[in-house]
Amino acid sequence: MSQLHVINHPMVQHKLTIMRDKETGSKDFRALLKEISLLMGYEVTRDIPLIDVDIETPLCKMKAKMVNGRKLAIVPILRAGMGMVEGLQELVPVAKVGHIGLYRNEETHTPVVYYCKLPEDIQDRLVIVTDPMLATGGSASDALSMLKARGCKNVRLMCLVGVPEGIERVQRDHPDVDIYLAAVDDHLNENAYIVPGLGDAGDRIFGTK
Ligand code: PRP
Ligand code: URA
Repeated sequence: MSQLHVINHPMVQHKLTIMRDKETGSKDFRALLKEISLLMGYEVTRDIPLIDVDIETPLCKMKAKMVNGRKLAIVPILRAGMGMVEGLQELVPVAKVGHIGLYRNEETHTPVVYYCKLPEDIQDRLVIVTDPMLATGGSASDALSMLKARGCKNVRLMCLVGVPEGIERVQRDHPDVDIYLAAVDDHLNENAYIVPGLGDAGDRIFGTK
C-alpha cells in the first residue's frame, strides 16, 4: 500500500511558509523550492540501497558504502516540477533526468500530455517524480501511468503541497507509489486550486503572471 510521508522538518515548514506568502517574488520562490527539494530529497532517498566499494584512506584499505546514483532518475512534470530538479541533482548529481509535459485543461481540470522524453533505461531505475502541486491528482496519476507503461516498477512521488483528494486519487490509482509532501492542505476551490496553497506554482516559478 502506498505510504504518505509528510516532511514536517522545521526548516522545510519555514521555507514553505515564505513560499506561500503572496509577497514572495519569483527569484526567492525558485530559490526556496530548490532548497526544500534538497531537504525533502534526504527523506525520499532515505532507504535507497548502498553498494560496497574498495577504497584506500590515508591509513589503510577498506570496504566502504556508496549510493549507486546511476540507478536513479528524476522526472519532473512540466512546468512546475522543473523547480524541484536542481535541489535533487545537488543530492544525486549523476541521476538522469526525464521530462513529462502535462498541463491542466482550464475548464475540465483534466491533464493533457504534450511531451515525454525519458532515459532509455528508465525501467531499471528508482524514479522520483517531482511536481510541487498535488491538486486533483490527475497530472501525477497520468505521469505515473506513463512511467509504468515504460516498465518502471520503483517510483516515488515528491510534491510540496497536496490535498486529500489528490492523495487519495494517486493512492487509488497507484497503490505501489509512496508520496512525499511538505504539507497537506485543506481543500480545492471551484477552479481546482489548492486552498490555502501557494497559487499557481508554474507562474510563480517562471514569472508568467
Ligand atoms: C499544475 C501543477 C501540476 C498540476 C496539479 O500544473 O504543477 O502539474 O497543475 O494539478 P492536478 O493535481 O489537478 O492535476 P499546470 O497544469 O498548471 O501546468 P504548468 O506547470 O505548465 O503551469
Ligand atoms: N496547480 C497549481 O499550480 N496550483 C494549484 O493550487 C493547483 C494546481
